[in-house]
Amino acid sequence: MKEKWNPYTWQKKVALHQPDYQNKVELDKVVKRMKKLPPLVFAGEVRDLKKELCKCSEGKGFLLQAGDCAESFAEFNPNYIRDTFRVIMQMAVILSFASGVPVIKIGRLAGQFAKPRSSPVEEKNGKKLPSYLGDMINAIEFNEKSRIPDPLRMIQAYNQAASTQNLLRAFAYGGYADLSTIQNWNLDFVKKSKQGSDFKLLANRISECLNFMDACGINNKSVRQLSETNFFISHEALLLPYESAFTRVDSTTGSWYNVSAHMVWIGDRTRKLNGAHIEFCKGLSNPIGIKVGPSADPDELVKVIETLNPFKENGKIVLIVRMGSNDIDKFLPRIITKVEKKKINVVWSCDPMHANTEKSKSGYKTRNFRNILNEVKSFFKVHKKMGTYAGGIHLEMTGQNVTECIGGLQKISDKDLSSRYHTHCDPRLNASQSIELSFLIASYLKNLK
Ligand code: PEP
Ligand code: CO
Repeated sequence: MKEKWNPYTWQKKVALHQPDYQNKVELDKVVKRMKKLPPLVFAGEVRDLKKELCKCSEGKGFLLQAGDCAESFAEFNPNYIRDTFRVIMQMAVILSFASGVPVIKIGRLAGQFAKPRSSPVEEKNGKKLPSYLGDMINAIEFNEKSRIPDPLRMIQAYNQAASTQNLLRAFAYGGYADLSTIQNWNLDFVKKSKQGSDFKLLANRISECLNFMDACGINNKSVRQLSETNFFISHEALLLPYESAFTRVDSTTGSWYNVSAHMVWIGDRTRKLNGAHIEFCKGLSNPIGIKVGPSADPDELVKVIETLNPFKENGKIVLIVRMGSNDIDKFLPRIITKVEKKKINVVWSCDPMHANTEKSKSGYKTRNFRNILNEVKSFFKVHKKMGTYAGGIHLEMTGQNVTECIGGLQKISDKDLSSRYHTHCDPRLNASQSIELSFLIASYLKNLK
């Protein structure tokens, strides 16, 4: 007889990209401690997100999932969280104004600490060490001790995630997202740029609308949505001992929820039908993202979706397509044809970051703004041609003025990368590039109307 699912049945499957903890007794102790820690999200909020995601699969909403590639202990700073939140809010306003549909905001935040790496070892000046796997697992410093996986780092990551989520809740519900303050949303270093002035023009138009609505008796006192927003959190469900410790039964419904995030996703490297990550995620009631790269076999992908969502629940699956600007036209139509035939109501989202990573001449891991934009453009074009709805975007970005991705109106060049390259993993769009990209996506969304 088939064993009934529980948060630990994944242990009987092959779990890729897991650290090899040397001290199992200590690992067990940490897991036991984590099982008693308070949830970061509530099941009712997760259900709300699912309802909102239904809109993105039906063409009545647009998903904006954005934030860090990898959060880090060193870069933990309330101002950084505030600035990232603020830029995500600006992006959401730009997209919503153009599309006329609500934008569902999900941060890659408050738990995005574990990273799958393309190589298990890193080599520097002839010395080889185990790769850095994210602050939740080991440390980035290039020495033997730092690279040993330490289970206690999971607790530190949880504590940081809890503080981050606490601040995000305060921003979302405490007046920071009030549309009547939109004139102040531009960050100082963005103000003087073209993106800053474009946003100012948009903010003026929105303020005018708000004044008119106020005259009609509709304002932030009468309508909650004008002064607060829902802001959800997400991360890759990669490190399974952490994820399973936070998977609990919801007392009102009796269903299992991962209470460390509203939504989790399965990475491109762990999306194996018979693997541990699918086994783990299939028992969750949370919405699940699935990264879909060029290596995805359409038939296997359909089976993965059916395993994760056997009852074809709407708002449950987000397919996060990351093919690369050169390959998307070739691979995406095949995937769309297979998935749509099954009528599974997925949300189609575009991650134009992960398959457009390159090494710059000066040796930095970077992404070219042009390739990012081209992948987004193709994503919209393919969906339009096939009659399906391009329902979301997934970005690695920050509210800081970093120089990690090449190009954009600021014309960041290879030479500039060294000046403010702070990411712990992949290169992120900075605040100006994020706003610039949003205006460009807004123009595609307008076209859909
Ligand atoms: C990520 O989103 O940080 C990531 C590693 O993506 P992917 O699984 O698509 O490579
Ligand atoms: Co990344």
